[in-house]
Amino acid sequence: MQLINGKQISQEIQQEIALEVKRMMELGLKQPHLAAVLVGNDGGSETYVASKIKACERVGFKSSLIRHPKTVSEKELLQTVYDLNHNNDIDGFIVQLPLPDHINEQKIIEALLPNKDIDGFHPINIGRMILNLPCFISATPFGIIQLLERYNIETTGKNCVVIGRSHIVGLPMSILLSKNNSSGNCTVTLCHSKTKNLKFHTSHADIIICALGIPEFLTADMVKEGVVIIDVGTTRVKSNETTSGYKLKGDVKFDEVASKCSYITPVPGGVGPMTIAALIHNTLLAAKKEIYP
Ligand code: GUN
Repeated sequence: MQLINGKQISQEIQQEIALEVKRMMELGLKQPHLAAVLVGNDGGSETYVASKIKACERVGFKSSLIRHPKTVSEKELLQTVYDLNHNNDIDGFIVQLPLPDHINEQKIIEALLPNKDIDGFHPINIGRMILNLPCFISATPFGIIQLLERYNIETTGKNCVVIGRSHIVGLPMSILLSKNNSSGNCTVTLCHSKTKNLKFHTSHADIIICALGIPEFLTADMVKEGVVIIDVGTTRVKSNETTSGYKLKGDVKFDEVASKCSYITPVPGGVGPMTIAALIHNTLLAAKKEIYP
């Protein structure tokens, strides 16, 4: 069994980007600038946004954090999106999800200009991804593809089961893995809450992407020997082992599953750090106007 070290690969990608930013600065080009919009003060969202801002500092990007209280109106939030869309210094921005119930998330996502949507959540970016056109690919699926590539994990001809059909992870992941290219070519089965006999599917899978958000859901009896497992779960559970009082739990019962795997990602230190690297990568593409010239 080989552990996939997402933390290390994420650091390598960020070092490569930092070098490129240094070269851009030497050429007198504009410093890439990411903005993040944070509504309310949910602990998880605070942590994720803080890591994104910290990564910007590490690679030499400018960053801005725009905070709103959880009582912010949809209209005010749309105004913030409008302002960021039209701020020429900002290359790309994200609105951290989830948003409070009184705000229509889809309406906010669709208000972003696709060329600033570094999360790749806008329907134009998702549509362009499906059609193999230049686009921003959402950070978690993109990060997972990077992990598979950098570990030389063969995908062509493999049976891949994706568990969870969220618009952020499961659905785009199923599309990317079924593409006609070297990081795709899988036969993908997208499983979800209405799937009958999930174990039948998982036990025939060469690669499993587990993204349903239920801690320790995938157990050893559900997988075959030699499987590759990518655990996207990051449920925050109370813990007195950490200073924050929380720890992250994956969707895979790691201790019993790991020994059956050829490769497996840990939680934390697997997919999570890759999401940050992918977002930083997308910001650089936005700054260089590589996707939407
Ligand atoms: N909430 C959970 N994951 C993400 C993400 O990748 N981007 C944003 N904006 N919000 C999230």
